[in-house]
Amino acid sequence: MGFFWNIIVLLCSVPVLRTQGSNVQQTKNNVPRLKLSYKEMLESNNLVTFEGLSNSSSYHTFLMDEEKGRLVVGAKDHVFSFSLVNISHDFTQIPWPASPSRRDECKWAGKDLSRECSNFIKVLQPFNQTHLYVCGTGAFHPVCSYLEVGKKPEDNVFRLEPHVENGRGKSPYDPRLLTASMLIDGELYAGTSADFMGRDFAIFRTLGKHHPIRTEQHDSRWLNDPRFLGVHLIPESDNPEDDKIYLFFRESAMDGEHVGKATHARIGQLCKNDLGGHRSLVNKWTTFLKARLICSVPGSNGIDTHFDELQDVFLMSTKDPKSPIVYAVFTTSSNIFKGSAVCMYSMTDVRRVFLGPYAHRDGPNYQWVPFQGRVPYPRPGTCPSKTFGGFDTTKDLPDEVVTFARSHPAMFNPVYPINNRPIIVKTDKDYQFTQIVVDKVEAEDGQYDVMFIGTDIGTILKVVSVPRGSWHDLEEVLLEEMTVFREPTAITAMELSTKQQQLYLGSNIGVSQMPLHRCEVYGKACAECCLARDPYCAWDGAECSRYFPMAKRRTRRQDIRNGDPLTQCSDLQHQDELSGQATLQDKTLYGVENSSTFLECSPKSQRAVTYWQFQRSADDHKQEIQSEDGFVHTEQGLLIRTLAKKDSGVYLCQAVEHGFMQTVLKVTLEVIDTERLDDLLHQSPNQRLWYRDFLSLVNHPTLNSVDEFCEQIWKRERKHRKQKAHLVQQQQQQQQKVVVNPHNHMHVAGLAAKWKHLQERQKGRNRRTHELERAPRSV
Ligand SMILES: *[C@@H]1O[C@H](CO)[C@@H](O)[C@H](O)[C@H]1NC(C)=O
Ligand SMILES: *[C@@H]1O[C@H](CO)[C@@H](O)[C@H](O)[C@H]1NC(C)=O
Ligand SMILES: *[C@@H]1O[C@H](CO)[C@@H](O)[C@H](O)[C@H]1NC(C)=O
Ligand SMILES: *[C@@H]1O[C@H](CO)[C@@H](O)[C@H](O)[C@H]1NC(C)=O
Repeated sequence: MGFFWNIIVLLCSVPVLRTQGSNVQQTKNNVPRLKLSYKEMLESNNLVTFEGLSNSSSYHTFLMDEEKGRLVVGAKDHVFSFSLVNISHDFTQIPWPASPSRRDECKWAGKDLSRECSNFIKVLQPFNQTHLYVCGTGAFHPVCSYLEVGKKPEDNVFRLEPHVENGRGKSPYDPRLLTASMLIDGELYAGTSADFMGRDFAIFRTLGKHHPIRTEQHDSRWLNDPRFLGVHLIPESDNPEDDKIYLFFRESAMDGEHVGKATHARIGQLCKNDLGGHRSLVNKWTTFLKARLICSVPGSNGIDTHFDELQDVFLMSTKDPKSPIVYAVFTTSSNIFKGSAVCMYSMTDVRRVFLGPYAHRDGPNYQWVPFQGRVPYPRPGTCPSKTFGGFDTTKDLPDEVVTFARSHPAMFNPVYPINNRPIIVKTDKDYQFTQIVVDKVEAEDGQYDVMFIGTDIGTILKVVSVPRGSWHDLEEVLLEEMTVFREPTAITAMELSTKQQQLYLGSNIGVSQMPLHRCEVYGKACAECCLARDPYCAWDGAECSRYFPMAKRRTRRQDIRNGDPLTQCSDLQHQDELSGQATLQDKTLYGVENSSTFLECSPKSQRAVTYWQFQRSADDHKQEIQSEDGFVHTEQGLLIRTLAKKDSGVYLCQAVEHGFMQTVLKVTLEVIDTERLDDLLHQSPNQRLWYRDFLSLVNHPTLNSVDEFCEQIWKRERKHRKQKAHLVQQQQQQQQKVVVNPHNHMHVAGLAAKWKHLQERQKGRNRRTHELERAPRSV
């Protein structure tokens, strides 16, 4: 019956909903479906935190070791090893401060002793089977060492070697700067700043058997005040000789590339087997090339809005190791316009640009143009190998190749994102994106990339992009927004463990851990599970739970692409499963004639649009309540300005989302006239009134505006929760028979006393509603 009823109502009220709800629905598509505060995350056991040491901070450098089940974190003066299972339950720390003499030197050099003259860990890389390589700023004197972690988890070792090496070209001097690093085959590739002043930025290769090698110094065509964000090895062919190292960074635009000061996002490439030149570019890269990464949206005035401040990069592997998908997070450079975007790039496009024209100009006052002349052979940027180059080492390169490479490090064409536009754009928000990780999730109707995006206010957005019609038309579905740190702080590190199905987050104040999915929070009905559109979750016949594609259970209900519960859940026999009766709240409220009352109804999903139905008695028709004189619809519920006897009846709060409607609240409202009020207040003590109703009895509608009313309701609610304990205590002291139980109920016997007391206070104070506001708590 419930199911058919839903259908009928749905059919009958579609025209009304469409006209009235379409705008709302549009604006609601951009809000997260679920929003969880820090407190809610903790209370629902969905967040484990490490609150940081009082003598440390800057938990920014992460190294995940899924095999050993550990997360190693580099911070200020410490290295930590956390258990991936529960970071708060099992962790060890090694203090590694700078020596007192280094700290003194740092202070004498004019640096801030407490903020800068410590050892901030910037590099954590696997070195060999038993050791990690670790580097820190060492109070403006970079240092590196080896961290023993054992071969197997059982070894249970975590020990810093006492031997310390010079960390120049590996860690920056200044703790505010970053290093993007990667250790492969005993060699450390690092993009960093290599001097005290923070001016000499370069891409280095150090350690290992070769002579250290770097980018050309003091040449702004190569690097122009860059900030390095990521290093990755990506094979170019099946021959390891062709392996390339790709660096992601942002830097100032080259002179003449842009009018005024601008930042550009870059991808840079190097050959892993580059040994530098023989006569020129000695111990410098001869295969370095860079290209601009574009992430922009067309503006209404014809001018594109560019997102140029590259913040983070994540490589999503595909079946072909040569072609991972590059996910990149950008923000805008503008001070006025705050925005963030995510763009996706294909390696095919990247390679096409590196094989395209080099950027060239004839002199400082010329334009940059695509180089039209003859490009020397082997083409600069090609790795020495049998496959493409036909030469053995970069030391054998002809002089004209090295000379050309030296003066043409930049490509003329930029790399455009897949589909030529961002997959996510967020503007006019009070936050910006900082980090991204992506998980590939197998769902019933296909494979989805689920993005976890960190922000500068300590929140995580969980987003899935769903093809609308084709791969070229993606719809961004913002599933959840979760606060993962106790105060607003930028998320600066993020790692995902597929084995643990957990996400680990770093910030200045600590480390947090959260599960990738929490299917049970979506609700206890098939429809709710389906509406969530979370590829991790499906309705299994009894509850919303983790979806595993392997399990051959035909009863699994899931529809990520459309999120349509009618097709997924309608054949379920049990009507409750569809209509979400399991989560239907049913309550009774009392209101006094001529006073106003507020029926609170805010569905869990922020995407849902609510509307109200009224039924006077069981035999009557249900009518939709329009926003007319007496009734005011708000985001939080329905306000009835002046209660009349005829308003008694049943109020149903309906939540409509994605074309599906469910009843989330049923309120039976009884309007009492004043004569009956006294009777009611002296009724048997097991008849209870809601605390809030009591307050609305006290407050006769002398309020000026609806806003004021609602504001007071919410303020009261909040304060009330805080002061509940306090209130109980006070009441006990006064020996009144007022009891507040955990559900905010009060005994009517107690109310009566209170009511009288308030009436007395009200005499002569009629206008001072705000004073009265405080009365129930302060008497
Ligand atoms: C993690 O460990 C802490 C401390 O032992 C404990 O309080 C918490 O319940 C654990 N959390 C989970 C999700 O296991
Ligand atoms: C920081 O405090 C912890 C104890 O909370 C201590 O074990 C550690 O040695 C201290 N670190 C430094 C660098 O002093
Ligand atoms: C790993 O490197 C460290 C530091 O050089 C060395 O002491 C250790 O013996 C090496 N372990 C293995 C298994 O090679
Ligand atoms: C409610 O208001 C109406 C019209 O203003 C008035 O006639 C009636 O007496 C009032 N009822 C009560 C119980 O105050």
